[in-house]
Amino acid sequence: MPTYSWDEHELYVLLEKFDQERNNVRNIIRFMQGTDEISNMLIAESQSMKTLLEYSEHIAAVDSTVIIYGESGSGKEVFAKYIHAKSNRANQVFIPINCASLPASLLEAEMFGYEKGTFTGGNKDGKIGLFEFADKGTVFLDEIGEMPLELQAKLLRIIETGEIKRLGSNQIIKSDVRIIAATNRDLLEMVREKTFRADLYYRLNVLVVNVPPLRSRVDDIFPISSYFVQTFNKKYGFTKRLSSDLISVMESYSWPGNVRELRNTVERMMVESNNTLIGVNSFRKGDTVIVERSTPPTSSDGELLSYQKAMENYERSYICSVMESCGGNIRSAARKMELHISTLYRKLEKLGIQIPQTTEENT
Ligand SMILES: Nc1ncnc2c1ncn2[C@@H]1O[C@H](COP(=O)(O)OP(=O)(O)OP(=O)(O)O)[C@@H](O)[C@H]1O
Ligand SMILES: [Mg+2]
Repeated sequence: MPTYSWDEHELYVLLEKFDQERNNVRNIIRFMQGTDEISNMLIAESQSMKTLLEYSEHIAAVDSTVIIYGESGSGKEVFAKYIHAKSNRANQVFIPINCASLPASLLEAEMFGYEKGTFTGGNKDGKIGLFEFADKGTVFLDEIGEMPLELQAKLLRIIETGEIKRLGSNQIIKSDVRIIAATNRDLLEMVREKTFRADLYYRLNVLVVNVPPLRSRVDDIFPISSYFVQTFNKKYGFTKRLSSDLISVMESYSWPGNVRELRNTVERMMVESNNTLIGVNSFRKGDTVIVERSTPPTSSDGELLSYQKAMENYERSYICSVMESCGGNIRSAARKMELHISTLYRKLEKLGIQIPQTTEENT
C-alpha cells in the first residue's frame, strides 16, 4: 500500500471520486439510452434489411471502424446503436457526436476537451472531451461529411493512435473507443472535390453498412408502421389502427424522409384522427401522395408494378379517400366524384372495397 502525505491523499481521494462520478454519469447515460425504447427498436422484415442485420451482428464482434451510408431518416443511428449493443462494448457508453451541429472550434472542444482557461467562453475549470469520456465505449460520429477539414486530421490521429490531447495541453491521454461514422453524403465524391481527406476516407471505409431507403423495402412499411401504432397507442392511451387501404397507400408512397417521415406521419394521423380506424384521407390533406412520387411504384419484391396494377392502386386510394371524407355515404361520394352511383358500386366491387353496412343513406 503506497503512503501519501495528507495533500496527496486528498488528491487521490478526489481523483477516485471524480472517476466514480464519471462512471455514475456514464451509467445514467446508458440507462437513459436503454429506456428510450422507440429510438432503439430496429424492425427488419424485408430481405435486404435482414441481410444487413446479420452483417451488422457479424461486424459488431470486431473493433474495426464502421461507416454507415444512407439517406436522411433511413435508420443510420439505429444501426449504429445496434452494432454497439451487439458488441462487447455493450455495457459501456454509446456517445453520439453530430459533426454538423457545431462550428469547428466548438466541435473540437467537445471532441477533445480543454484545459482550464484555454477556451474563451468555456467552463473555467476546463472540460473533459467526449472521446475521453467514451473510453471503452463507442463514439458515433454522425454526419461525418460535415466535419471541418482541420478536425478531420485530428480525428485520423485518434483513430490511428488512440491518443487525445485536450486543447491547451500537451499531455497525451489514451482512450479506447470504437468509431462508427455515418453520412448521407457521397464521401468519395467529397474526396475528389478535396472537401474530405482521402486518408480519413480510407481509414473509415473499413466496414461499410449501406442502409437502403424505405421505398426500396416496401415489406418493412407495414411492420414498422404497426410498431409505431402500438407505441403511440401506449403513449397516448389510444386503441387506434390503420385501415388496410391506408397501408396500401403508404406502401406505394416514396417516403423521401424515410422511417423518420413514416414515424411522424403515423403519429400525426393518430393524434389528428377522431376515428379508431384511420383511413386513407388522414394520410395527407390535398392528396399529393401519388403526384409526389419520385420513383415508379413497385411491389413488395421491388418489381415495377404493371400499369394496370398501379392504376388500380391509385383508383382504390382515391375512392377510399373520397368515401371517408363523405363518412362512408356512397351517394354523396358518387356525387363528389361526378360518377353515377351504379358505376361507383361496380368499382367498389371490382376493387374489393368494403361497402359500409350501416346507414340507410347509402341506399
Ligand atoms: N428499422 C427501423 N425500425 C424502427 N424504427 C426505425 C427504423 N429505422 C429508423 N427508425 C426510426 O426512424 C427515425 C430515424 O432514424 P435514424 O435517426 O436512425 O435515421 P438517420 O439515418 O440517422 O437519419 P439522419 O440522416 O437524418 O440523421 C428514428 O426515430 C428511428 O428510431
Ligand atoms: Mg442520424
